[in-house]
Amino acid sequence: MKAKGYIFLIPVFILMFASVIGIKPGALNEEFMPNPEENLQIPEDVQTILDKSCFGCHNVDAKSDKAKKKLLLDELPTLSKAKIVAKLDDIHEVLEENEMPPEKFLEKYPDKALTDEEAARLKEWAENAANELMK
Ligand code: HEC
Repeated sequence: MKAKGYIFLIPVFILMFASVIGIKPGALNEEFMPNPEENLQIPEDVQTILDKSCFGCHNVDAKSDKAKKKLLLDELPTLSKAKIVAKLDDIHEVLEENEMPPEKFLEKYPDKALTDEEAARLKEWAENAANELMK
């Protein structure tokens, strides 16, 4: 075989090497690019309130299957717009009805309760974000 023939093997070796050390094509770019599937931006102050009072039960690693089935806050931004709107409506409703966080939980962890301002901010956000998505 002529020396030129080996040139075609170089990309193959690079790909083999990359896969051995765990680099996926495009992985470097992904770190710097916004996720194109994010349909919802959660403002920092809202995220802080959600983290304090809601996230513990409504995330993929939470213990309660019931809570996870109803709402996964960490996956919320990646759902379809229609599904996000439905979830935002649910969030607005449980806050309106004072259903979340659950009373039993608050007896144990009173510091996780929402203040009136926090509940109002979450409701305002849920409503505005839903309206924004339906435009
Ligand atoms: C202690 C765990 C816990 C915390 C904290 C918690 N939830 Fe829940 N949540 C649940 C459980 C369990 C359910 C399912 C209730 C059911 O199916 O009866 C639920 C259901 C829901 C639902 C669906 C309601 C429905 O019937 O469709 C929404 C929306 C929700 N939670 C929002 C929130 C918000 C917003 C917060 C923070 C303010 C929060 N949750 C905090 C446990 C929790």
